[in-house]
Amino acid sequence: MPDYDLVIRNGTVVTAADASVCDVGLKDGTVATLGKGLAAGAREIDATGRLVLPGGIDSHCHIEQRSSAGVVCADDFYSATVSAAFGGTTTVIPFAAQHRGQSLRQVVQEYHEAAGPKAVIDYAFHLIISDPTEQVMGQELPALIRDGYTSFKVYMTYDLLQLNDGQMLDILALARREGAFVMVHAENYDMIKWLTARLLEHGLGAPRYHAVSHARLAEGEATNRAVTLAELLDVPILLVHVSAAEAIEVIRNAQTKGLKIYGETCPQYLFLTADDIARPGVEGAKFCCSPPPRDHAAQEAVWTGLRNGTFQVFSSDHAPYRFDASGKLPKGDRTTFPEIANGVPGIELRLPLLFSEGVGQGRLDLNAFVALTATNHAKLYGLYPKKGTIAVGSDADIAIWDPERETTITAGMLHDNVGYTPYEGRRVRGWPVAVISRGRIVVEDGKLAAARGSGTFLPCALSEAAKPVGAAVPELAFVTGQGTPLV
Ligand code: URP
Ligand code: ZN
Ligand code: ZN
Repeated sequence: MPDYDLVIRNGTVVTAADASVCDVGLKDGTVATLGKGLAAGAREIDATGRLVLPGGIDSHCHIEQRSSAGVVCADDFYSATVSAAFGGTTTVIPFAAQHRGQSLRQVVQEYHEAAGPKAVIDYAFHLIISDPTEQVMGQELPALIRDGYTSFKVYMTYDLLQLNDGQMLDILALARREGAFVMVHAENYDMIKWLTARLLEHGLGAPRYHAVSHARLAEGEATNRAVTLAELLDVPILLVHVSAAEAIEVIRNAQTKGLKIYGETCPQYLFLTADDIARPGVEGAKFCCSPPPRDHAAQEAVWTGLRNGTFQVFSSDHAPYRFDASGKLPKGDRTTFPEIANGVPGIELRLPLLFSEGVGQGRLDLNAFVALTATNHAKLYGLYPKKGTIAVGSDADIAIWDPERETTITAGMLHDNVGYTPYEGRRVRGWPVAVISRGRIVVEDGKLAAARGSGTFLPCALSEAAKPVGAAVPELAFVTGQGTPLV
């Protein structure tokens, strides 16, 4: 009887902290032993010359989600998780998105019904709160947090999602009181609305004006406001999909002050610019997301933020819409920029793009790559050390990379259901050649080996990182449930 179910031999095993050449013995879905010359496994993989990395965690992706404008994502839980796995990701945290008038509990149940029979890798859920009614705030959210939905996203923009500052404070106070973590989409709603109206009045409806209306100052202002609201109540927050240098500076300054303010960025802000949105005709719609890709200076600011620790997590914000009337272009060629479905696909390419341009070009070391793409996600969302690392007792979620493999990206090679990729024709070096989820080989030699529905749901805990620093504003303790009103 072999000692292990699977042994990965002689690879360079990299975590967020270390790297060493050794074997990894897997048993019963977890990492059993790390060392040299391990005993036999029922199955063995020779990883000589390869990198053995924790499977990626993509903590920002939209799967089988209906947007607030009623447009449905192109990927369901099968195509999205298959695509994620081929790109080296073994855990996804998409959203269970509430639309106004909906019960959150009902929404969560529907997302489970969608994911359970289809997901091929493990998944948790964040909640999107668009309707913080008394029922939601008083009953549903506290109960859901106790059930393992400990993070939620709120929007400062979009007509049907936007929360005002008072509602944001209500959510932040609840997060502090009940033990949850808040993710913020920070853009100034009125600035965008006003600019959009002026542009359309002047007949400027082409995709390129999406980037003009979602001005970098709108992102910077809202980021500053979100940070200030969070500071008022001493509640950690994560600014998601950050693109503008103005926003990065706000986050950096808050961190320097000692606030628990976290930052997330995405491939589109490293590899695309507003020039892509300005491509002829409606082609630019393929690149419309919010906040939009900006310019080369902003790209450099994002790289710097990845290097200096301003950003803790690198996610895809995979928001897949087909390039037709069912997705990006509800009115075909006559679709104006505010009608274009927002979001770009990236769940499969997130890791190869960052590996190639980050590690391959010497901008990031391998430990930082692992931290940004796996470990920090697990730490922020309370999944560590079960997920996000290679350590004895951790789930055996592993991606074996060929660091030299060169690939020219085409839409046809990807496993999502989008039909195009914003990264068409780009060459990358480095690719995950075998992907293992809880000890099961899910992708090997370009073939899927996982069954539909074999992924499992992961309830999340509140992480240390997401806990408040202390009673920073004692005179407001009563609003967070930790004191009585001052009179
Ligand atoms: O444009 C984007 N990012 N679309 C996805 C929805 C969101 O705000 O994350
Ligand atoms: Zn967003
Ligand atoms: Zn998103």
